[in-house]
Amino acid sequence: MVIPQHVAIILDGNGRWAKSKGMPRNYGHSRGAKNLEVICEDAYNMGIKYLTVYLFSTENWKRSPEEVDSLMKLFRSYTKTCIKTAQKNNMRVRVIGDPTALAEDLQESLRRLVDTSKENTGLQFQIAINYGSRDEIVRAVRRLSRDCMDGKVRPEDIDEKLFSGYLDTWDVPDPDLLIRTSGEERLSNYLLWQLAYTEFYFTDVPWPAFTKDDLWKAIEKYNSRERRYGGVKEE
Ligand code: IPE
Ligand code: IPE
Ligand code: MG
Repeated sequence: MVIPQHVAIILDGNGRWAKSKGMPRNYGHSRGAKNLEVICEDAYNMGIKYLTVYLFSTENWKRSPEEVDSLMKLFRSYTKTCIKTAQKNNMRVRVIGDPTALAEDLQESLRRLVDTSKENTGLQFQIAINYGSRDEIVRAVRRLSRDCMDGKVRPEDIDEKLFSGYLDTWDVPDPDLLIRTSGEERLSNYLLWQLAYTEFYFTDVPWPAFTKDDLWKAIEKYNSRERRYGGVKEE
């Protein structure tokens, strides 16, 4: 079995899962956060090197203030727990997205998480929080334009590789496999540039119920595909 080096996940369906159990949406979010810890360990034990998960999109601010507020509270506690689990599991954590819209204390916890885990050599874990791919590209273009104006980059030297270096994922290889849970089959503004040649896997299983076996199913399906680039089989 070929294990994909980098798996990206759109963890969806927390709310619907909770509703199906007669519980409030927040219950789904907190069970979803717990499941993420489990799946991180499973993924690493399976041999996955990079895992990138979508926690909060730039569009998720449109949800009710109560839901946004409870998600932010959950991220606070998740970040604190993650500082400990990252040390225990030798996991390096990165944040992608624009943290500047988050509360200062949450930004500070995220910085601590990134900083305390930066030397870890186990799972390379990216959390996308206040992430939107279009926003990421716009921020990259802004920084690149500034470098051009400062004379650090010549426009004629801009190519795909140079541009990728301005994205939040600058030192992470592109995902090999994208998984979206809970039945929706869209990207919802996730990693538009990075997913250009990624294999997609959609499952009806809602995120809080997603298990190691479901991850295996996705990897098996990935293995049954023949990856091609420009119509040419992968070497
Ligand atoms: C995914 O679950 C978690 C976040 C987007 C924060 P949802 O909250 O989108 O759950 P559904 O899709 O409404 O069931
Ligand atoms: C995408 O899920 C964002 C995250 C998983 C964080 P949503 O549930 O917000 O996406 P849409 O709005 O249904 O596309
Ligand atoms: Mg959803």
